[in-house]
Formats: sequence, C-alpha cells, structure tokens
Amino acid sequence: MSGEIPDLSREALEELQLTRLRDSLRRAYAHVPHYRKAFDGAGVRPDDLETLADLARFPFTAKADLRANYPFGMFAVPREQVNRIHASSGTTGKPTVVGYTAEDIVTWSEVMARSIRAAGGRPGDVVHVAYGYGLFTGGLGAHYGAERLGCTVVPVSGGMTERQVQLITDFRPRIIMVTPSYFLAILDEMEEQGIDPRASSLEIGIFGAEPWTDEMRRAVEERAGIRAVDIYGLSEVMGPGVSQEAGETQDGLHVWEDHFLPEIVDPVTLEPVPDGEEGELVFTSLTKQAMPVVRYRTRDLTRLLPGTAYPAFRRMQKVTGRTDDMMIVRGVNVFPTQVEEQILAVEGLAPHYLCVLTRPGNLDELTVRVEAVDSDVDRDSLARALAERIKNLIGVTAKVEVTDPHGLERSLGKAKRISDQRPK
Ligand code: DLL
Repeated sequence: MSGEIPDLSREALEELQLTRLRDSLRRAYAHVPHYRKAFDGAGVRPDDLETLADLARFPFTAKADLRANYPFGMFAVPREQVNRIHASSGTTGKPTVVGYTAEDIVTWSEVMARSIRAAGGRPGDVVHVAYGYGLFTGGLGAHYGAERLGCTVVPVSGGMTERQVQLITDFRPRIIMVTPSYFLAILDEMEEQGIDPRASSLEIGIFGAEPWTDEMRRAVEERAGIRAVDIYGLSEVMGPGVSQEAGETQDGLHVWEDHFLPEIVDPVTLEPVPDGEEGELVFTSLTKQAMPVVRYRTRDLTRLLPGTAYPAFRRMQKVTGRTDDMMIVRGVNVFPTQVEEQILAVEGLAPHYLCVLTRPGNLDELTVRVEAVDSDVDRDSLARALAERIKNLIGVTAKVEVTDPHGLERSLGKAKRISDQRPK
C-alpha cells in the first residue's frame, strides 16, 4: 500500500543505507563535475566508503555551490530526463534550482504519503493544501503525497483567506497542510466571520516550512480543536517529507532515513557530533537521481534522537532555528522562536510578531512588535510583561511595541520573523 512505513530493524536499515549511499556517491562523482572536483580535492573516492562513518571524509555541499552551478550544473542526468524543476528564492541573488526525474517524483510522493499517514491521515481523507503551489516545493509536494495516499486533495495554495475559510466550511477537510503562521491567519478569518474553529471539520494540521514552537502547538490545538504535527524538509534535499512527526507521539520528527541520511555537525568545527547533541543538520540523499546531494549543510539546528513510533528511524528534534536567523543582541544569541515562546506565555498577546533589529548608536537594539488579541487591553502592561519575560528568561533587553489586532502584515507562506534595519 502507498505510504506504508517500512518496518525494518535498525541493522537492516543501516545495511540498506550503506548500499544506497555508495551508489549515490558514485552517481554524483560520475555525473556531476562539481562533486568530481570536490571529491578529488578532498582525496576521496566513492569506493573508499566502507562504513557509514566514512561519509565524514567527504566534502560538504553548501547553498553557494548550488548557486555557483546555476541553473542546471548540479544535475546528474541529462536535462531531458528531468521531469520537474523547483526553486527557492532566498534573500539575495539567483534562486537555488533543484530537479527531479520521474522516479524522484515517485519517491517524493511516497515519502510525503508516509508523512501524511504518520500524521494520522488515511486513504479517503479530504486534505486542504494551503502551502503555496509553484516553484516552492510545499504545495505540489503535499499534493502528490496526499494523492498517492488515496486522499481527496483540495489544491487551494496560499492566499485569499476568505475563500480558504469558505472551502473549509463547504468541503469539510479532515486535514489541513499549511505553514503554522498562515494557519493563524485562517483562524483569525474564521473567527471574524463568526465561525468557531473548534466546530470545523478539521482534525489534523500538518505544519512546517518555518520554525514554530511547542507553545504555538498548544495554542493552535486549543483554539482549533485539532492535533498539530510538524513536517520538515528543504528543496535541496527533496522538499517537504524529509522528516515527519507522528501524530500518536508528537515527540519530534522521524527522518525517512531510507532516503535521506542525516548527520549533525558542530557548526564551527564541522566535526560530526554524537546522537543527542545539538548542532547543524546535514543531509546526504540516498536515492535521488536528478540531483543527488552530498553532505548538504541545512543551517538548521537540531539534534538526533532514537526512534519511537517507528523504531528504526531516528527522530530529529523540532528545529529551533537556523544559524542564519540567530540574532546576536549585545552578545546574547537569540532566536525568534525563543521570543515566540515568551509571547505565548503572556495572556492578551497574539502570536503574530516581528523582531526588528536596529543600531541607533554603536549597539544593536531588539524591538519586538507583537499584536494585542483585542483592542481594549492595557497595552503598556502587556508590553512590560513581555519585556520582563524576555529579560529574565532569554537574557536580553528588548523594547516591546504592542500593536492593534491585525497591526502586522500577514504572510501567506513562510512568516518573516526578523526585520534587520541595521546600517550595513
Ligand atoms: O520549506 C519545504 C517544506 C514545505 C517543508 C512545506 C515543510 C512543509 P525550502 O523552501 O527549501 O523548503 O526551505 C527549507 O525551511 O532548511 C528550514 O530552515 C525551514 N523549515 C522547513 N520545515 C521546517 C520545520 C521547504 N518543520 C527551510 N521547522 C529549512 C522549522 C523548517 N523549519
């Protein structure tokens, strides 16, 4: 059956990984000039790989390598065999382009079908997909996975929030797949229309594409009467469906390790760290044909933990932030997710927020803009309460500005949590 989660022993999985890894490294070396050069430079050959640990001798791949080989230089098959292109825009310069063969699309659909099943989805469910369709991998990735599982897919994409609410009311989906921040906007719209989200047909939310906290999970589950689970992925490695949290345990994301091999490395020394320790997540694709990736540095910070719901597959802890999103405020490292945790602890504040970095003199200042839940609250005391929590629990001084409800711009996809207004 599609989307079945393989029931393997850890030993059998590792054996499979080793065979697939060797094949994947060989394909990369034989067909992608970048990898040939990089492996030669590091003095390693695919045939040198005897154990999974030997992967540590191979060079890393970074976003800059993909940019340098724009648009199709990282492909390992002739362009004619590439069935689909996706791209992620990033903040500067050229987009990062990724390609898939027809077989890759099947693999991707299969891991996505698995993810939806692990979340609690079943064949026959109506699935409302509000991830963006287009070059972004979210919409089409979710779509193909839900179809493969045998669901009824509603391909709404992001935006037109009023219509999202109408379609949820009329089509009665059991599952919604959307960024957590856009789901909040949908909930706001429901409430504005006088619809109680808890009375909707929705039972499961599969949320990802951006960091979100357990505090946000609790808030959204309570408000919408759903079970909220985390889905992770990145275009360079596949798209959504690289790892998935099980609905029954909600304890971090099982990495589909028969297709994607995870490592955690120290972000400074780049040395691998043992399971359980935090560091930067690195992925090597095991089965991708069009664009194999070797030790791709995700910039995402997490740790690897043993499997639970699916014992052979290790879990990764919820991603707390990207190294790129770390704000250093007078020497203290702060991630937007830490601010989110504190916002959710102050009653009267809504989890719509933006961290603004400025440098009025020589020192950086952090201002947190956050919305009030309704207009007749005492904003000064809410601001004081949040500033105090940020000071005491994160250790930085922040200015807090509490805006009107809906005072901040809504994102239709990935939320922007940082506005860096410091002089360059
Ligand atoms: O965001 C793929 C995706 C779509 C995942 C829909 C889940 C749902 P990119 O646009 O390439 O791909 O962005 C990848 O987004 O490196 C993380 O920094 C972040 N990210 C993705 N999922 C999560 C998550 C898609 N569950 C980048 N938690 C990744 C935290 C996430 N961050």
